[in-house]
Amino acid sequence: MRQNIVAGNWKMNKTLREGVELAKELQNALQAEKPNCRVIIGTPFIHLSEVCKIVDPELIGVSAQNCAHHESGAYTGEVSAEMVKSTGAGYVILGHSERRAYYHEDNAMLKTKTDLALKNGLTPIFCIGEVLEEREANKHFEIVKSQIEESLFHLSADDFKKIVIAYEPVWAIGTGKTATPEQAQEMHAFIRKTLAGKYGQEVANEISILYGGSCKPSNARELFANPDVDGGLIGGASLKADDFRGIIAAF
Ligand code: PGA
Repeated sequence: MRQNIVAGNWKMNKTLREGVELAKELQNALQAEKPNCRVIIGTPFIHLSEVCKIVDPELIGVSAQNCAHHESGAYTGEVSAEMVKSTGAGYVILGHSERRAYYHEDNAMLKTKTDLALKNGLTPIFCIGEVLEEREANKHFEIVKSQIEESLFHLSADDFKKIVIAYEPVWAIGTGKTATPEQAQEMHAFIRKTLAGKYGQEVANEISILYGGSCKPSNARELFANPDVDGGLIGGASLKADDFRGIIAAF
């Protein structure tokens, strides 16, 4: 059956030294606490290699927050999926709404990134979600469906099973405005139904679908209690060990 997952997304925060400190703190605390879910931390590129040396991979998975949509070559400033893999990281967050909005990543580019991640043995944590105007116009289901269809539905069932989905309503990210447990469950059930329509119910049941957007220790439990919410992608609250542990403890 599918895994419950709590994944942190540090975004563009923490110097190398601060990131190493946080990874050490989490490693020590979680070793004692023995989480009931898979824990992943998504660090900036520069932290990956050091953090991978600190954490026990069975206890804490390590993720990049992006990778290039080219294999290698003259792309100044970019980091390829192969390079991410070579640090020891096992995951890559793809299609985060901040990448879509500020760096113009579209569904076609994210399809290429997904292929490169899978080719290099990385598990994509693939982010989807609507902006406020789309929800207000009642287009949120349509938007989310097209994000999945256009970036992921070319995959074989075997490859699709390697994907983790993160539903992050953009209006809930960093705003303190969390989706209600009902809104999250409604969309997660819709996503699973969409996956079942393409790959069958058995495959759909194996996919972890995370919720992201102002998830914190005080609301994680009621969000994760929903049958189709298999954990969270955590931004702000992943930057402090105590808050992140509080969310992990919701399982
Ligand atoms: P937030 O961010 O938890 O700070 O809202 C979530 C995300 O962007 O992944």
